[in-house]
Amino acid sequence: MDHYFITGVSSGIGLALVKELLSQEQELSIHGCSRRDPSIGDPRFHFYKIDLSDSSGLEKKATDFFKLQAGLFNRLILINNAGMLGDVAFVGEQQAEHYIATFTVNALAPIIFSEVFIKQFQNTDTEKLIFNISSGAASKDIEGWAAYCASKSALDRFTTVCAQEQIHKTHPIGVYSISPGVIDTAMQAEIRTASKEKFPSLDRFLALHQNGELLSAEATAGKILSLVNRADLRHNTLLSLRNL
Ligand SMILES: NC(=O)c1ccc[n+]([C@@H]2O[C@H](COP(=O)([O-])OP(=O)(O)OC[C@H]3O[C@@H](n4cnc5c(N)ncnc54)[C@H](OP(=O)(O)O)[C@@H]3O)[C@@H](O)[C@H]2O)c1
Repeated sequence: MDHYFITGVSSGIGLALVKELLSQEQELSIHGCSRRDPSIGDPRFHFYKIDLSDSSGLEKKATDFFKLQAGLFNRLILINNAGMLGDVAFVGEQQAEHYIATFTVNALAPIIFSEVFIKQFQNTDTEKLIFNISSGAASKDIEGWAAYCASKSALDRFTTVCAQEQIHKTHPIGVYSISPGVIDTAMQAEIRTASKEKFPSLDRFLALHQNGELLSAEATAGKILSLVNRADLRHNTLLSLRNL
């Protein structure tokens, strides 16, 4: 049986991933976490209520999340999907708490979840994969989004170091980052509510939405699962869905 561990399952891409997986595969188990319960009602889905912005005890929460009942398993797949935009404003107009929460959810939590996953499963002789959901913002300067850009950038660098380290291992874990593109989720709706003064790129995001250029969460989930299932599509550590 394949085990999927997915963070941020209550909406958007994470919820679409869960629904797509449940519609495709009979033999699987999904362990999903977020603050809100998506109420999936399928015995293959196991929900864990975790607030990833609370860094205290994250290691213990991750250890509990990855605890598997004894039994046979084929693939073990971690998708660190949960993320937050944080307050949209220029540096110098922010509260320290905003940086702490944004870095904790977007960088620290997936880093600690990866750490615990690797500790727990490194020597397991099955296919193991980690996908960190990043953003094009990791490699772009977007005014008003300093914490978001910097936290996704940190996640990408963590991913590339981690992927290189795995080359030395007897049972290596595939470690990747995925930049999904611009997706029609609650996060995009939140982006469009920002003021132009605090977010000079607002018009571009309004136009993308008005012109119907956002990809659906469902189509995005399908593309992410193509990367999960097809090693031949995973050309680099830092992957983009744009060309899939
Ligand atoms: N939408 C886009 O255009 C876009 C573009 C590039 C990258 N991304 C990335 O894609 C990922 C998914 O985003 P989305 O667009 O699907 O956004 P979304 O609909 O807002 O979903 C975000 C998910 O993250 C979870 N989350 C946020 N804060 C959390 C916390 N403190 N503790 C636990 N879970 C938390 C949310 O659950 P709860 O609120 O229930 O906790 C929710 O399930 C994010 O990493 C985002 O940065 C999105």
